Amino acid sequence: MDQYAVLGNPIKHSLSPRIHTLFAEQTGQKLDYQALEVPIDGFSEFATDLHQQGYQGMNVTVPFKSDAWNLSESLSERATAAAAVNTLIRTGTGWQGDNTDGVGLLADLTSNLGINLTHQRILILGAGGAVRGVILPLLSAQPDLLHIANRTAEKAEALAKDFKAQGMVIGSGLNGPFPSRYDLIINGTAASLQGVVPQIPEGLLEVGGCCYDMMYSRQPTAFVQWAKNQGATLSTDGLGMLVEQAAESFFLWRGIRPDTRQILALLRKS
Ligand code: ATR
Repeated sequence: MDQYAVLGNPIKHSLSPRIHTLFAEQTGQKLDYQALEVPIDGFSEFATDLHQQGYQGMNVTVPFKSDAWNLSESLSERATAAAAVNTLIRTGTGWQGDNTDGVGLLADLTSNLGINLTHQRILILGAGGAVRGVILPLLSAQPDLLHIANRTAEKAEALAKDFKAQGMVIGSGLNGPFPSRYDLIINGTAASLQGVVPQIPEGLLEVGGCCYDMMYSRQPTAFVQWAKNQGATLSTDGLGMLVEQAAESFFLWRGIRPDTRQILALLRKS
């Protein structure tokens, strides 16, 4: 049976094995998908060993996405732009790197949630690896403004500079300056893992605006709660992004696209 895995540390609570097993059942594919905990300093050896064992593909999560980028013998355009790899595809001699996080976010926002991004003003919080990976796909939807705000302002400014040829993107600290209100506020910081909300001023969300947390958890995240208090029309966590990025990885490996809505509904129910 073809073998796949998600590599991370910690990884015990990953939903990826469940999602890919559901995809495989739904599409009639025979495969085995496990969650494997990798030693913090041992990604390259671990992934090379899995190649020797005959693994067909891997997902890569925190904190190894840039290690996977370094290990890849070739990179897709979107992985190059993201400077991070979340999907490895077997080649004869090693691993080819791709990044499906950005298309996953876009698919959840636009197809699943019906949020229009074109000519909208988007505020994204954070400037780490997770945010870098979604900048180009967000800009491809041609928003009027993409504002990156980060606790460490310099990182947001540097990120905005890196992408300025691709669209209207600016960077600042969490205190702004903010040139407008926003139709969509996305949380791409690690704050939800700590149960806190990035410290941004009140009143930044446009009336009728939406909020999206790229993190997910069983309970509504602190940011999802905050968004409800700000009057967001829609406020959701990143479970849909997780399922959509997985579906794109599954497609890269198997050439078949699962029906994500069915799987997402199932996961939400449980
Ligand atoms: P990831 O790969 O998940 O993006 P990362 O590269 O370590 O992880 O980035 C974490 C992001 O969350 C950063 O933007 C960080 O802000 P700093 O650059 O100022 O460190 C942000 N972050 C983490 N905890 C936060 C908090 N409590 N409030 C606001 N931002 C936070």
